[in-house]
Amino acid sequence: MTPDRKLEWDWFPGRVPENVTLDDTAYVETTYSFELFRSREPDAMRIGRGSSIYLGVMFDLGPSARADIGDFTLMNGSRLICDAAIEIGDYCLISWNTVLMDTYRVPAEPALRRPLLEAAAQRAPRCVRADVPARPIRIGNNVWIGFDSCVLPGSSIGDGAIVGARSVVVEDVPAYTVVAGNPARVIRQLEAGERPAAADMTIQPI
Ligand SMILES: CC(C)(COP(=O)(O)OP(=O)(O)OC[C@H]1O[C@@H](n2cnc3c(N)ncnc32)[C@H](O)[C@@H]1OP(=O)(O)O)[C@@H](O)C(=O)NCCC(=O)NCCS
Repeated sequence: MTPDRKLEWDWFPGRVPENVTLDDTAYVETTYSFELFRSREPDAMRIGRGSSIYLGVMFDLGPSARADIGDFTLMNGSRLICDAAIEIGDYCLISWNTVLMDTYRVPAEPALRRPLLEAAAQRAPRCVRADVPARPIRIGNNVWIGFDSCVLPGSSIGDGAIVGARSVVVEDVPAYTVVAGNPARVIRQLEAGERPAAADMTIQPI
């Protein structure tokens, strides 16, 4: 990252927000990932050592949101919709088109959604703004989330768990289990094995 918080390789003329801590060895493909970032929290977000954020990842963080991405985690084309807190551990693999949301952003009642859509039509950009509760999401270390999956508000995923492709996680996933389907159900147990600390390796700053 340059001193004025740009990325040398970026095709988008954006900057990494001031309240985002980006490790020197983390890679963010483009600052377009922050186009929906509105958090005003002082330490709104951290992207840890050796982590990789590829094209299509969108950090849609509301004004009071905080997100934390650990070390050596790789995200590709995923969307974080966050109004409270989303925590992702170390060594996670978050695949294409996954959606991690700690809030639904809109009320369930049609009568309450109508005025929100009418208000959206009168502002630019035309986005829906509603005050609905958020429930934090926590994803442990060494978690693999398969493509097109969705993690809904209030869910947590334990260390070493795998979420199968196109699954919808609606409740807590125990550590070292494979879950799949909609709603995601346990299909297999995994060996817990060792839990080594994060690698003490030298990574060239990007
Ligand atoms: C979850 C996954 C790892 C499970 O693999 P596995 O342990 O070999 O599981 P199996 O293929 O033996 O399937 C076991 C059962 O779970 C079901 N199942 C597996 N994956 C499923 C999925 N994504 N959704 C729904 N059911 C699934 C199978 O149909 C099978 O059901 P059955 O016992 O009734 O026949 C794999 O299916 C998967 O989804 N991988 C994600 C791949 C991916 O997203 N890659 C992106 C690159 S990072």
